[in-house]
Amino acid sequence: MAFNIETLDKDKNIDLITIYDDYSEIKFTNFGMRIVDWKVNGKSIVLGPNAQDDLIQYYEENPYFFGATIGRYGGRIDGGKFELNGQMYELEQNDSEHNLHGGSNGLHTQICDYEIINEDEAVTIIYNAELLSKNDHFPGDIQIKVFHRYDLSKMEWTINYEATSTEDTLFNPMNHVYFNLNNVEQRIDNHEIKNENLQMYTLNDKQIVENEETVNLNETIDKKYLSFKDIFESGLDQIEKYNGIDHPIKINEDTFTVTNGEMEVSMTTDNDVVVLFTLNEVDWNDSKNSIVEHGGFTLEAQSIPDDIHLYGEKAPSILRKGKTYKSETSYKVNVI
Ligand code: GAL
Repeated sequence: MAFNIETLDKDKNIDLITIYDDYSEIKFTNFGMRIVDWKVNGKSIVLGPNAQDDLIQYYEENPYFFGATIGRYGGRIDGGKFELNGQMYELEQNDSEHNLHGGSNGLHTQICDYEIINEDEAVTIIYNAELLSKNDHFPGDIQIKVFHRYDLSKMEWTINYEATSTEDTLFNPMNHVYFNLNNVEQRIDNHEIKNENLQMYTLNDKQIVENEETVNLNETIDKKYLSFKDIFESGLDQIEKYNGIDHPIKINEDTFTVTNGEMEVSMTTDNDVVVLFTLNEVDWNDSKNSIVEHGGFTLEAQSIPDDIHLYGEKAPSILRKGKTYKSETSYKVNVI
């Protein structure tokens, strides 16, 4: 299969890897193990830099974590501290009093070594990364492998994570890709979620999930399938408060599909939760001013944010010393 590698910064070892055929192409960089672009029939379906933007500077400055691999921990940890095995760990508070996305030395900042495996229908990039306790103040040093595999015949991007830690710790990685199936400069209001049973966890005033109760959005808004417009205009307190959706949704069907009637993206994951975020406030922009409010949506497959406070020692994100963490999430595009 066809791929090419472009060096973006020789000294820093930052590359852009493109996997392509006549119909689709996907671009990744080893800087933050990011998806940079995904084009189907020449049309971009994810948010990322324009041709005019300097890619490295763009990602250094972009506050929305576009396309980045997030770790050790996707989402907020309440108060930036937690207890594990009777010991309290104090983390960086990089989102008011919370720790968000593992802090400012997370996987999104790393430049990773990688190798490429080229098969008949697919190309896989295998990145090596490590997270050190001395840098992010979580316990344990973690060795991580991230696999980005693109199957050109299925137009399917599969992400695998494998990790081991020197101590019991928390590990809750995810990818922060933003989709927009219309056109990156348009809002996503017309996209419909093809799931009939959207169980949304609610957030308290500090943006933290406090209990396991969920609201069935389809029942509450009274529609079989909800568009983002239905959600934005629902008048629900939870949605008004955040000017959109920024909530964990329980995964209880095999796939989670979003469509604009022309194309659909289906996510399959072995995680419990997907955090849906709809770019609810925009205060940073690119060279073309193309990032707009509600101009993209994330499908962040992960364990429920702040699970350590919700479930204590039973939190799914706890990675015990000597155990191997494994998870898999894939995104598949169909043209309708
Ligand atoms: C999401 C988070 C949002 C926002 C975003 C980054 O994962 O839920 O509140 O912080 O990342 O812009």
